[in-house]
Amino acid sequence: MIQLFEKGRQQIFWGDAIEVLSQKIPDQSINLIFADPPYNIGKNFHGHKDKWQSEHDYLQWCYQWLNLCVNKLTDNGSLYLMAATQNMPYFDLYLRDKLTVLSRIIWYYDSSGVQAKNHYGSLYEPILFCVKDKQHYTFNAHDILVEAKTGAQRKLIDYRKATPAIYNAQKVPGNVWQIPRVRYRMAEYETHPTQKPTTLLKRIILASSNPGDLVLDPFSGTFTTSFVAKQLGRYSIGIEIEEPYIKIGLRRLQLHI
Ligand SMILES: C[S@@+](CC[C@H](N)C(=O)[O-])C[C@H]1O[C@@H](n2cnc3c(N)ncnc32)[C@H](O)[C@@H]1O
Repeated sequence: MIQLFEKGRQQIFWGDAIEVLSQKIPDQSINLIFADPPYNIGKNFHGHKDKWQSEHDYLQWCYQWLNLCVNKLTDNGSLYLMAATQNMPYFDLYLRDKLTVLSRIIWYYDSSGVQAKNHYGSLYEPILFCVKDKQHYTFNAHDILVEAKTGAQRKLIDYRKATPAIYNAQKVPGNVWQIPRVRYRMAEYETHPTQKPTTLLKRIILASSNPGDLVLDPFSGTFTTSFVAKQLGRYSIGIEIEEPYIKIGLRRLQLHI
């Protein structure tokens, strides 16, 4: 059963991502998709274990909704995909036939959890940034500039120009993003095992959509994508299967039904 909450610019679907994508979302209607699915690593999403019978089953399920996501993108649309490090190579190869992979991003964070003792512990999650048309896609570089660290104490002068000027102190972020994970007691924390930081979504939404664009998240969890999209003046569609997370989304988006 699918229930729809729609208020103004923000839509929430309570149901299965594949059902909603295939039955409710028109093709070529979405400017930006951020997909952060269950990783098949055994997380507990409100009593439902994120673990498939086999890796093959998991990948086949992902390919189904990835195909739908590709169809939903506008001609100049972008898809960001998160996945477990061990599965990302499959998705990278799979999507290469359908989209152009422009960046392979590493979201790096320090881990306060149990540290690995007999191998190198994981301190990052990979993100694929793909576009439908590599000649025509949205990328608002000026909205996401970060400090360009030169390592120098003083401001460096660039003498190559007619009039010497201080080196540009800002740059477009590279593909390693150091952003802290959402931890208990942080202001944005919600009761969810894999909540993504607003800072991460802010960069993605600012770069790859414009005000008034439609942003979709098929596995919304705590609705971080929709929450940030609303703050930035974008329309949003969030899909989530678990009722408690739907309630978090309604609260974060201030939708009262
Ligand atoms: C990795 S979490 C997403 C976290 C989210 N990005 C956030 O910032 O909170 C994946 C979410 O997908 C949901 N989910 C699992 N299977 C689903 C399905 N078939 N359709 C829709 N949502 C599903 C889970 O309940 C979980 O909340």
